[in-house]
Amino acid sequence: MRRKIVAGNWKMNKNVIDAQQLMFQLLQYKKNNPASCEVWIAPPALYLLMAKDLYENNEIGIFAQDMSAHESGAYTGEISADMLESIEATGAIIGHSERRQYHGETDAHCNQKVKLALDKGLTPIYCNGETLEQRKAGQHLEVVKNQTEVALFTLSAEEIKKVVIAYEPIWAIGTGETATPAQAQEIHAHIRSLIAAKYGQEVADEISILYGGSVKPDNAKEIFSQPDIDGGLIGGAALKIDDFAKIIEGFNA
Ligand code: PGA
Repeated sequence: MRRKIVAGNWKMNKNVIDAQQLMFQLLQYKKNNPASCEVWIAPPALYLLMAKDLYENNEIGIFAQDMSAHESGAYTGEISADMLESIEATGAIIGHSERRQYHGETDAHCNQKVKLALDKGLTPIYCNGETLEQRKAGQHLEVVKNQTEVALFTLSAEEIKKVVIAYEPIWAIGTGETATPAQAQEIHAHIRSLIAAKYGQEVADEISILYGGSVKPDNAKEIFSQPDIDGGLIGGAALKIDDFAKIIEGFNA
């Protein structure tokens, strides 16, 4: 059975007081509302240890928003897989489009990062997705195919089963414009069929593929009801407990 997941990517938001408050509210919510999906958060790295302390029973998965492609050494500002393992983080988001856009990350970097994460027992959330121009030019299936193959297809079957994929069309991130459930389903099914062709259907059926890009309380349920969509990676709407809770409930309905 594939895992159902709602993950919140906080990006570069919230000071320490506000971050602590939201983490606490989420814990209270989780205790009072048994969810039918796993709930993960990716706060700024500075707050990961705080989350670890608060979620002592692993009620909520804790993810870094990025991690280094290098093991250790003179890489100022970077966080390693080893460090994340040492604080018992659940995993790391890898290849978010904002990392690609502002920090020049490529699928080759993502491939290194995914491998390093898996070596340390961390769960990578590997992000891919096309730009608006690529979609308009009808290249979206090809773009996502290339991204998936370069970043993931050097993994063994056992390794790729541990990866969570997040399809995030760049034109839908933070824009308020969401892919229609049918558009998202088409790409999710495409990604799963690529994995099936390479690793077999059984492996493909085990991999959770999340959708990201302006998921909100009022569209979550319909998006999550698609057969190949196993949850969401949520940006803006993960910053308020009420919105995030309603999105989690998209699985209960
Ligand atoms: P958004 O961000 O929900 O604010 O569109 C999603 C993401 O970037 O993961």
